[in-house]
Amino acid sequence: MNNEGSYTCECGGLLEVQFEDVDIDFKLNGRDLSVWKYRCLLPVNRDPVTLKEGGTPLYEFSRNLYVKHEGANPSGSFKDRGMTVGVTKALELGKKAVACASTGNTSASMAMYAAKANLRAYVLLPSGKVALGKVAQALMHGARVIAIRGNFDRALELVRIVCERMGFYLLNSVNPFRLEGQKTIAFEIVDEIGVPEYVILPVGNAGNISAIWKGFKELEKFGLIDDLPKMIGVQARGANPIYRAVRDGRYYIDPVKNPETVATAIRIGNPVNARKALRAIYESRGTVVEVSDEEIVNAQRELARGGIGVEPASASSLAGYRRLIEEGYLNGDEVVVCIATGHLLKDPEIVLKICGRPIEVPADFDEILKVL
Ligand code: F0G
Repeated sequence: MNNEGSYTCECGGLLEVQFEDVDIDFKLNGRDLSVWKYRCLLPVNRDPVTLKEGGTPLYEFSRNLYVKHEGANPSGSFKDRGMTVGVTKALELGKKAVACASTGNTSASMAMYAAKANLRAYVLLPSGKVALGKVAQALMHGARVIAIRGNFDRALELVRIVCERMGFYLLNSVNPFRLEGQKTIAFEIVDEIGVPEYVILPVGNAGNISAIWKGFKELEKFGLIDDLPKMIGVQARGANPIYRAVRDGRYYIDPVKNPETVATAIRIGNPVNARKALRAIYESRGTVVEVSDEEIVNAQRELARGGIGVEPASASSLAGYRRLIEEGYLNGDEVVVCIATGHLLKDPEIVLKICGRPIEVPADFDEILKVL
């Protein structure tokens, strides 16, 4: 690792953890799922800082279509899987402060785990573009929250500099240890239903798709599975650099300067993990699909009406699935897992925009009757 906060190799690429000889001591028997069930494949050497993350429900939403609800993690998103490992690493390295740039969920999760570990937490957010629930979490868990007049990509550039200068431990997905925690999504899927044919998930900074692919590859490497799924990324039309790279068969992205989407969690124009994500997509013979804000909102409603409450970015996985069916890429018979990355309550404002406000009436039976 060069400097604090850079996590890059001399070639300019991001560093990655590699396991060689591991004594696998867990059984893929569908029982006791949690991030730390797979500790032998997690790179930590001390007691973990844990809030009992992972073990999230995998629902069969319709025949062969599964939804893994990462909103059921302690802070309400998949980021907790990464933070339990990343914050543990911070303690192992003797750090006193952690920091991140965030579209919201990373900051909420980091603030929560930093609080548990008694570390100072610093957060840079794109001003006005982070859903209310996430800001509330970061503030209440005691992080110093700084909103910059710029977008997420700029916030990430700046926090890398802040970490280098101040010696804070950077917990964005450039941190390879965080991604190690997130790969347990793959482990839990296999633990419960075996290897699906497709895994579909939203792509923002592109860490999660890289992490989950790494998880599947590790299970294969250690002889626990024979097949691999195809990885399908979903991007919002207004923030789609990875989609455009794959459409054009490229191994690099052209950043989107002013990304815009209702799914603020994935409002990212220059994903730092793009190279890894493209490798995951090409290697798995998957693809990337882009969806409109309208498709995202429709999928959010569809999931909610099926009993699964997610935020807009998370619904883009189902929106992507529907689009791929429409385009004939999928026929509906395949075993597919959609990752629902974050909880409905993260973004209450969008819900009020979509659903309107409650009907208000005088406190009287006849008045209530009129509106039933
Ligand atoms: N879904 C949600 C709900 C997210 O919060 C994020 C990323 C993603 C999907 C995309 O994951 O970046 O690994 O491709 N949120 C980050 C944050 C950027 O700051 O909370 P990715």
